[in-house]
Amino acid sequence: MEAVRDDGAQPLTHHGGDDGDPPMLSSQALEALKEFLSEQKRALVADDDTTVDGGGSQEEVALVAEDWRLSQFWYDRETAETIAREVLTLCESTGSPSVVCVACPTLYAYLKKIDPNVSVQLLEYDKRFEQYGSEFTFYDYNQPEELPSSLKHAYRIIVADPPYLSKECLEKVTQTISFLMQPGKSYLLLLTGEVQKDRAAELLGLHPCGFRPQHSSKLGNEFLLFTNYDPGMRLGGWEQEQ
Ligand SMILES: C[S@@+](CC[C@H](N)C(=O)[O-])C[C@H]1O[C@@H](n2cnc3c(N)ncnc32)[C@H](O)[C@@H]1O
Repeated sequence: MEAVRDDGAQPLTHHGGDDGDPPMLSSQALEALKEFLSEQKRALVADDDTTVDGGGSQEEVALVAEDWRLSQFWYDRETAETIAREVLTLCESTGSPSVVCVACPTLYAYLKKIDPNVSVQLLEYDKRFEQYGSEFTFYDYNQPEELPSSLKHAYRIIVADPPYLSKECLEKVTQTISFLMQPGKSYLLLLTGEVQKDRAAELLGLHPCGFRPQHSSKLGNEFLLFTNYDPGMRLGGWEQEQ
């Protein structure tokens, strides 16, 4: 007897039993397996799988399922689109589309959706994003400069969303940012909790913007978007200390 996957893939069979009959799953195990597979099918949607809202043309990018053990909280669509459009505006104004996304895979996916030709490098710990091929670089913030030398001082636009809200994590991500940026020339956008406001100012000279990033799963911490440049009227303006 075969336990058949509901996704049309090969049946799960195991022909190792002494009597020649494959082992059977209990009905509860089979139900759990089916539920797991259909959840995976919903979550592991390729980038070209889109949902269309009532207005007609706007598309939502679907990513792999969040893994909370890796502190993964994906932006909601409005947030991802707002930051992606800001990055593309910076690309246009600098004439230099060298963009790196540090631990923000949703932004990478939206950038590619809006402008498939934009050249972006994604630095990420989660190897499921190897699906992005040569634009994926494995990154562990605990080894902040263990990166290919070709990335050193290579980026005019850097967006980072560190996995944790600790001092140690922001200090290490700051080391990575210094490795990636062109001193005095790079535009930096940091998304992190409000609790990091003073450290973001001390370590990187960043100020919060009026725009409030939101996530598809509701978070308890207030998130802010910090920049090292004045965005003018964009991103809800720049909140500078008086
Ligand atoms: C707070 S989430 C930011 C994701 C962002 N909101 C988005 O929607 O793309 C933090 C990211 O850090 C990654 N991460 C987890 N552990 C990490 C590590 N040790 N080093 C670097 N990145 C890590 C997670 O996979 C996740 O993409």
